[in-house]
Amino acid sequence: MKFELPEKASVETLEIDAREVEAMLQGPKMDLKPWPGAQVKLKDGRILFIREARLDEAPKMLTYMEKIMHVDHDFYDIVGARVYSEILGWYRSRLKDPYTLVGLIDGKWAGFANGRLMNEDINISLHTMALLRGGRIGAVMYYAKAYYGFEILGNKEWWATYESYNGWMRWGLGMAQPSYPWPDVQHELGGAKVYYVTKKYWDQLIKQYVRQMAGADLDFNVSDEVRKANEELIVPDEILV
Ligand SMILES: CC(C)(COP(=O)(O)OP(=O)(O)OC[C@H]1O[C@@H](n2cnc3c(N)ncnc32)[C@H](O)[C@@H]1OP(=O)(O)O)[C@@H](O)C(=O)NCCC(=O)NCCS
Repeated sequence: MKFELPEKASVETLEIDAREVEAMLQGPKMDLKPWPGAQVKLKDGRILFIREARLDEAPKMLTYMEKIMHVDHDFYDIVGARVYSEILGWYRSRLKDPYTLVGLIDGKWAGFANGRLMNEDINISLHTMALLRGGRIGAVMYYAKAYYGFEILGNKEWWATYESYNGWMRWGLGMAQPSYPWPDVQHELGGAKVYYVTKKYWDQLIKQYVRQMAGADLDFNVSDEVRKANEELIVPDEILV
């Protein structure tokens, strides 16, 4: 759009550095404390190591997610497509204050969990995926990101929603999460219901969840050996779900 100028301008065409536009588009980032890395011994004895994904790993994560979004059972397709856009949003700085956790077994990518901070109080849970089935890896990944929100970032509330029966069963039902009145309050993922956890409810009940689910707590005392074995994220050759 162009309007006539109400005053003479000595320079009529302004030159703008795209870096200045970038600052406008991104806005200031919150200073998020890092996830320190934790391990969980799965029921079959394998060690799942949960660490933050590195930005340089995003391209290979995207390549794998491109395959996952064609899996047409258990809602892997829609979750895969949305996770693809979230990884890209993180990679291209088009997601406000995201965090991206990966679950690895001997380096192999087995689980995914991400979210973003709406503000200092509210943590928006985005997606969780088990890339290997049957080990309750998804359950553990979700718990780890909620732990990150409440225990490390100091959030007061957790907002989630569910696209799949397995997701709803694992956490909506599995954590007995209440929901806000709908459609008055809607989650950013498709306008679905917001299921929530408060810090009080987390402290009262949900901290026991991972022990009940996986039979072990998150262990932050991770050996150098485990960290080293999971330094490189290895994308599986084929779809395993
Ligand atoms: C939701 C999700 C993360 C849960 O992961 P998980 O906790 O590791 O659990 P799984 O999906 O492997 O297994 C769930 C149930 O399916 C059944 N199951 C077990 N092995 C299975 C297998 N090899 N394949 C399919 N289903 C299996 C079991 O009943 C299991 O429950 P149980 O462990 O209590 O017996 C996972 O199902 C997933 O990634 N789904 C697609 C993406 C998605 O829906 N994300 C959540 C969005 S709301």
